Amino acid sequence: MDGLGEGRPLRLALAASLAEHPGIGPKERRHAAAASRAVARWLRVVDAALIRAGAPKVIPADRALLRYLAWRVAVEGEAPDEAAHDLRLPGPRRPRAISDQDVLRVAHAMPRPGSEGPLAFDHEGRALSVPSDPAVALGLRGSVPDDFARKLLRDLGAKEATACLQALNRDARLTLRVNVARAGREEVRAALAAAGIAAEPGDGPWSLRVEDRASLFDSAPLREGLAEVQDESSQRVVEVCRPGKGKRWLDLCAGSGGKALGLAALGAEVTAWDAIARRLADLPRRARRAGVEVGVSRERPSGPFDGVLVDAPCSGSGALSREPDARWRIDDAAVTRYGETQAAVLRVGAGLVAPRGALVFATCSIFREEGEWVVEPFLAENPGFRLVSEERRWPQRDPGAGFYVARFERRAAGARPRGRTRLTGHGAAR
Ligand SMILES: C[S@@+](CC[C@H](N)C(=O)[O-])C[C@H]1O[C@@H](n2cnc3c(N)ncnc32)[C@H](O)[C@@H]1O
Repeated sequence: MDGLGEGRPLRLALAASLAEHPGIGPKERRHAAAASRAVARWLRVVDAALIRAGAPKVIPADRALLRYLAWRVAVEGEAPDEAAHDLRLPGPRRPRAISDQDVLRVAHAMPRPGSEGPLAFDHEGRALSVPSDPAVALGLRGSVPDDFARKLLRDLGAKEATACLQALNRDARLTLRVNVARAGREEVRAALAAAGIAAEPGDGPWSLRVEDRASLFDSAPLREGLAEVQDESSQRVVEVCRPGKGKRWLDLCAGSGGKALGLAALGAEVTAWDAIARRLADLPRRARRAGVEVGVSRERPSGPFDGVLVDAPCSGSGALSREPDARWRIDDAAVTRYGETQAAVLRVGAGLVAPRGALVFATCSIFREEGEWVVEPFLAENPGFRLVSEERRWPQRDPGAGFYVARFERRAAGARPRGRTRLTGHGAAR
């Protein structure tokens, strides 16, 4: 896992690395995946801890090893002897250059976490000083870039920003969306129980929270398309669409099609499109399994549609629980670029909506640049649309990823706008 923090998505790095080692058993694979995700998440803390511990400059493979050690001692608070002991290698031939003695010395010199999080004390138990710039202090403790921390402080204030990062730094809960085209929630819950999988209803009408178990994906309810893995906030986006039965909906940024399937399950006639066509490749198979129809468009769709969903490409800042390494690709310039792309895609989507039709715009970002600040100029430039609802979901307050979702309606042809209707509906003012 040498590529961590160097721009390569962890998902891909991990899959490639595990494929190179087919002999590794399932238990070790799960540990390798969990540890890599944790190191990717805490990379800033881990690297700061290694600097404080005076870790030597080493080859990339050894650096990965030291980062793993730092996660266990400086983030998880494990005893240095125990963590270093697990990294000892027997025999004279070693796939690494750093000695067991050096690993042990670094482990002992590592800072330790406190109740408020990592980097609280040095190895002798003295409190570590906090950087004077609040964004640097928050970024360092919460393991995000300074730009990221500064935006959170701007929008949430210190207490809430800290809570937000704590939530983003936990593993995501695994949630299913019950496929209401096939079965009700209690029916699917019973089918999961029969397969040995406990499930609890989530907040949304179709959500079931389940344990993260290897057997889940092979279980009959998932194989038979009774449910799909989908984050609770993503399910909320489908709910906000409220597609009526038989209404024509376009999912303009369909990706692998999770939301398109959700719309189809509610009886909409769905067309799916994505700028990157290969992302849609698996959607016909998933639709068949779910027993719903989704038309995958090869041509750029021309409309008009009763509803258009723009689930726009974004920084993913609200979904760090699921993709912890995405934070290292987020800086001010990237967020600005995403906002510009979102405005452009939203304009395209708007052009495809029939009079009185709906337009839903969503991003899994917690930054205003990828939400409110896209919608405000859109409304100013498009008096033919009115904002019907606007909602922000925060990871520290709501289940699922941090999300922004707005619903607009296109006025009837010839209707005169009566001012700019800006709602601060459910979630917006919280
Ligand atoms: C947030 S993801 C969509 C996730 C998907 N809706 C789901 O529920 O699984 C955003 C998608 O937008 C696509 N995209 C990027 N630029 C686009 C554009 N200009 N027009 C349409 N899709 C675009 C990306 O390829 C990506 O698949």
